[in-house]
Amino acid sequence: MFKTIEWTDEGVRILDQTRLPVEEIYFTCRTYQDVAHAIRSMVIRGAPAIGVAAAMGVALGVNNSSAATVRELRSEFESIIEEISTTRPTAVNLFWALERMRRVFTESLGGRGTSAEKIASAKARLVEEAQRICAEDIAANQALGRHGAALLKHSATVLTHCNAGALATAGYGTALGIVRSALAAGKKVHVFADETRPFLQGSRLTAWELAKDGIPVTLITDNMAGHFMQRGKINAVIVGADRIAANGDVANKIGTYTVAVLARENKIPFYVAAPLSTIDLRIRSGGKIPIEERSPYEVTHWGGVATAPENVEARHPAFDITPHRYVSAIITERGIARRPFTKSLKLLFSKSQSRSLG
Ligand code: MRU
Repeated sequence: MFKTIEWTDEGVRILDQTRLPVEEIYFTCRTYQDVAHAIRSMVIRGAPAIGVAAAMGVALGVNNSSAATVRELRSEFESIIEEISTTRPTAVNLFWALERMRRVFTESLGGRGTSAEKIASAKARLVEEAQRICAEDIAANQALGRHGAALLKHSATVLTHCNAGALATAGYGTALGIVRSALAAGKKVHVFADETRPFLQGSRLTAWELAKDGIPVTLITDNMAGHFMQRGKINAVIVGADRIAANGDVANKIGTYTVAVLARENKIPFYVAAPLSTIDLRIRSGGKIPIEERSPYEVTHWGGVATAPENVEARHPAFDITPHRYVSAIITERGIARRPFTKSLKLLFSKSQSRSLG
């Protein structure tokens, strides 16, 4: 199995997703600017994976620092955070991970000791924290996978959009984690993967990782989803999320909203699989979630080849909002939230807090 992202002695090693499915090559980021570039250019993508990359980028930046005083290191830290936080705006996991790294940084500089001791402690603790975030993400996906698997029939065909698999996370996946978990529990699952225009995460990434794992997959173009739903071929839709508002509105890959409406029309359950790190209780509803607008070039060209007339006006919102009324359930590592989400999501957080408080 491949590793989406990994901390190594040489730097942060990332599987280059812009080269898949043609080549499986790894890119080692040696500076935090390399990590920021990898996130921005989608060498690594998917909300949880972006969060892990952001954390490792901070650890890398601080470890590369030659600051001799705490004051100098604090100022470098702010530049690192600034650079990484401006890479992609929608995935809240990015900001969640940066906040965790800031907490550890502040704590490690706050204790006793000389400047040199505090700097050494900050460096070591940030690496540990980034690795912890990575390991926790895999564990969260395995747990949510088990919860979600229980919702699937013994033999099910699941439609998914974009890539919410091992490639979009530290490993195992959210939506595809549920599929893996159901298969491990002895169920029969077949995946219909939307191609996911314009960046083709469905065909390039979801189809690639499922085929690699021997999981049955049928690739369809986005505009075929309604047809197969109408013909009774799909039992459930499972997608990931980039950010979920307190009321259960879901920001996910452009086209998710269309799939949700089609699922409702065809009486098919529409499930969202996401760790708690993707839920943003500070945002009340989806209208407030920032939507990344990417280059129209990604719409008018593929692989450097024009697929539209020169100079045609094009737009590329990379995400859309699925209103909570279309969402049958949100599957997290702490359990399954159902409507009203304002209540059920809050409850999941208090459950996790009381557990971590022991
Ligand atoms: O633009 P991307 O490829 O980063 O978008 C990814 C998605 O929309 C995923 O569905 C989402 O991040 C969840 S990944 C577990």
